Amino acid sequence: MVKIVVIGSSSMDLVVTSAKRPVAGETVLGDSFKTVPGGKGANQAVAAARLGAEVYMIGCVGDDHYGSVILKNFKENGVLIDCVEPITHMESGTAHIILAEGDNSIVVVKGANNYVTPDYVEKARDLTASADMVMIQQEIPVETVEYAASLCQEVNVPLLLNPAPARPLSAEVIEKASYLTPNEHEATILFSDLSASEALSKYPNKVFITEGKHGVRYFNGEQEVLIPSYTVDVVDTTGAGDTFNAAFAVALAEGKSFEESIRFANRAASLSVTKFGAQGGMPSRQEVEEAL
Ligand code: RIB
Repeated sequence: MVKIVVIGSSSMDLVVTSAKRPVAGETVLGDSFKTVPGGKGANQAVAAARLGAEVYMIGCVGDDHYGSVILKNFKENGVLIDCVEPITHMESGTAHIILAEGDNSIVVVKGANNYVTPDYVEKARDLTASADMVMIQQEIPVETVEYAASLCQEVNVPLLLNPAPARPLSAEVIEKASYLTPNEHEATILFSDLSASEALSKYPNKVFITEGKHGVRYFNGEQEVLIPSYTVDVVDTTGAGDTFNAAFAVALAEGKSFEESIRFANRAASLSVTKFGAQGGMPSRQEVEEAL
């Protein structure tokens, strides 16, 4: 069993479904409202645990009702939470999601996720050093991403950096990360002076651009390769990227090739979008293997 440490956000997703997305100044009537666990870090942790990894979360929740629900959800999914702290007098992170017209729009309020600081990560140095793979995203302070990249390099543990949501990263962080998984939009922010192809060939077997239903593109040292995705009936794309990242990390940590790992991750991500909620459709290991 591979050991994955996830440094990142844990939130509640407040999800409205609606036939139409309102434009500025407009009010529309929605169809439903649900609250479900989310947050990119927590989603990746849960997805990796369902795929059979031993998963440790490093994160923070608020001392509110959502915080209790988030912690309970980690436990139910077998994610180890010794390093998830409730922050006094602070609200849990929330993501305000509109599902409309076949896609989502999201506003994230970081709340307690702002407390996932470099000092907080440093307290879990030994845990981090013992991982087969560390995963991180960008719903926590940028200094923490920078710190984690240095720490992983220092203790010689591979870091999979999912640069979502989009924000620029220093060249040092990009160098220190082992794998980067931007979507097409994030890639333009990360590599603003390069085309996608130039960025891929500059970072062979390191930058993997996720192109949604088209698949995942990377440069294998000799040529640019697109590993296609799988066609499914889509219910909710929220969390598809998180499922991809978790499955990719698990497969790489298990020693699978890049191509095999992407196929495994594409399959997992395609299953995840067939059900409602970021974590609702995240598949078990058995489900992915049967589907493959
Ligand atoms: O990646 C999907 C996640 O992004 C959602 O669960 C939501 O919490 C947002 O942060």
